[in-house]
Amino acid sequence: MTEKGIILGIESSCDDTAAAVIKSGRLLSNIVSTQNEHALFGGVVPEIASRSHQRLIVPVVEQALEDARIDRTDLDAVAVTYGPGLAGSLLVGVSFAKALALGLGVPIIGVNHLDGHIASLFLGEQAPVLPYLCLIVSGGHTQLMHVEKEDSMVLLGKTRDDAAGEAFDKVGKLLELGFPGGPRIEEKADSGNPTFHHFPRTRLPGYDYSFSGIKTNVLYYLNSFKGLARTELLKNHLDDICASFQQSVIDMLVEPVERASRKLGVVNIGVVGGVSANVMLRSRLKEICTDRGGVFNVAAIEFSTDNAAMIAMAGYQKFVRGESSSLTLSAEPSLSIA
Ligand code: KG4
Ligand code: ZN
Repeated sequence: MTEKGIILGIESSCDDTAAAVIKSGRLLSNIVSTQNEHALFGGVVPEIASRSHQRLIVPVVEQALEDARIDRTDLDAVAVTYGPGLAGSLLVGVSFAKALALGLGVPIIGVNHLDGHIASLFLGEQAPVLPYLCLIVSGGHTQLMHVEKEDSMVLLGKTRDDAAGEAFDKVGKLLELGFPGGPRIEEKADSGNPTFHHFPRTRLPGYDYSFSGIKTNVLYYLNSFKGLARTELLKNHLDDICASFQQSVIDMLVEPVERASRKLGVVNIGVVGGVSANVMLRSRLKEICTDRGGVFNVAAIEFSTDNAAMIAMAGYQKFVRGESSSLTLSAEPSLSIA
């Protein structure tokens, strides 16, 4: 894409306050301020998140403009996540973006957070090759999409209960690894034995997912060790438990993608969202894809977890298509995709 367009992207759907600037499809700046205060509570506290967004949004946007060496009056549009996410968090970003767009007299572009994750695939060297299967795996979502065109996709399946990232976070909490669990479990799993314990894999008809069972399985497994035996288990085998759990989640994530690829004859595969930062998940999907002669696509790790570069990119793509939102845009916590 070579079209003109300087777009400010704003993301505040959960616990990251983020802003980024894209010019003609090229990323000029990307600021993410992660609210570490939630770690104390073992999960995101909505009230704290919205207050922190209010405190952080002005400095984060100013830093993104400064890093990009762009004056706010040069902006052609303001793109903002309007859902899905936490209501109070989304409201901060949407209200701020609307006020800024109104003040500057430029369009506001509402972006679905999940479309934003998919747009992260356009931030690298190699844009995804259509059609492709896109696995969206984050703390709030797990769904498999068949992307036929840039702006047209079909939902193949989604989780019926917990998201994969949620399972990582809940098991991280059970294992007292802190929040978020995903990166900490991956780090431990690196030196563990994935065959140490077999946690059952849930397999549903079609392409749906379920991750509530694995969390309960880990809990029951840990509770089957009492007192000293449990202390010894966690002392000697924490890495092995993490590796076994990670292996199970990845098997459950990958199997429907492989099946969909075979049944639908779609060989190109992409993976996005926070859990796509997981190196083993990336390499398993890449293997399936390249075995079938497809093009595999995943964003750099900094663009896998929540960021505004992906929102600016999705906004830029809409801007190029001549799409924008009205100033009545409001936060939609339960917004879905496709
Ligand atoms: O996309 P994201 O930043 O926020 C949401 O939209 O939810 O995803 C956050 C999720 C958390 O559940 C976190 O534990 C998980 O992504 N995550 C990981 C890894 N890095 C982040 N899960 C597994 N392995 C990782 N390396
Ligand atoms: Zn996300």
